[in-house]
This record gives sequence, structure tokens and C-alpha cells, in this order.
Amino acid sequence: MIPPSTTQTILILNGPNLNLLGSRQPEIYGRETLADIEAACSRHARTLGLAVDFRQSNHEGQLIDWIQQARGRVAGIIINPGAYTHTSIAILDALLAVELPVVEVHLSNIHQREPFRQQSFVSKAARGVICGFGSHGYILAVDAMTRLAVPPAAPPDIEEA
Ligand code: DQA
Repeated sequence: MIPPSTTQTILILNGPNLNLLGSRQPEIYGRETLADIEAACSRHARTLGLAVDFRQSNHEGQLIDWIQQARGRVAGIIINPGAYTHTSIAILDALLAVELPVVEVHLSNIHQREPFRQQSFVSKAARGVICGFGSHGYILAVDAMTRLAVPPAAPPDIEEA
């Protein structure tokens, strides 16, 4: 568990079409916007002594660049890869490469949906998956991350002259 006084950053990544939350199929994804979810995550993380770096992209390569850059910079990654969940071995490989704790989140319960949504490539890199709780799933993921996040690397020893 992270001591509450230590400020660490969690990267929260969102994949394609999640920028449309609020108006996109609200009967499935709810009425909250991505900005609402970001605000709720930041508020909740602050109470746990964590900071949040919250991002969204419609582009697979951009998500991969952000995952690669996360190494050594953040304590863990929460990711809702959107439809890339079901297609992207490249995102899986990037998550495996950075060796950070990963929590996968979906607003909807993907296991109740079309067969093509019931497979996740990303899950192989995830310590756990939270799905079906709507936007509250992001808060549950932040809570989960407090038990998984890696402490920042110790500064190198400074040799005495
Ligand atoms: C989603 C589920 C995916 O199947 C879908 O493509 C999304 C959102 C979810 O949060 O429920 O874009 O990841």
C-alpha cells in the first residue's frame, strides 16, 4: 500500500471514441463525459496521495508512445483501450515492455456484449480487469492501483569526493 503522504502519478489512458462519452450510446456508456471522469479520478486520487495524468487518443500509435514514455515516470497505468482492447497486440506488447502494474477498465460489461468484445488482448498485461461498473470503474481502478503501484526508483548514490 502506498503511504498517503507520497505523491506518485498514475497514468490513465483512454482509447478511441471515449472522447465522445456523454453523448455516445449513453444507454451503454452512461451520461458522464470524459472530463467528468477525469475530474472524479483526480479528486479521488488526491485523497489517496496520488496524482493523475489523464489522456485520451483515437490513435493506436499515440497510445503506444504514451505507454513507452511511462516507464520510470509513473507508478502504474490504468487503461481503457476502447475497441483496441479487442484488436491491438501492439498495445499489449507496449504494456508488457514497460513492466508497470496495469489495470484494465471498461465502462460496460464486455462479457455481456457481442462475442467480438469478449476477447481482450490487453488483459494478458493487466494485473486485473474492472468492467461493467460504468464510470465508477475508474475509481475502483485507482483504488486497486494503490496496492499495485511501484514506488519511484531510489536516487543514485552520490559518491563522496
Ligand atoms: C469499452 C468497450 C469496448 O468494446 C468499446 O469498443 C469501447 C468502450 C468500454 O469501456 O466499455 O470503446 O472499452
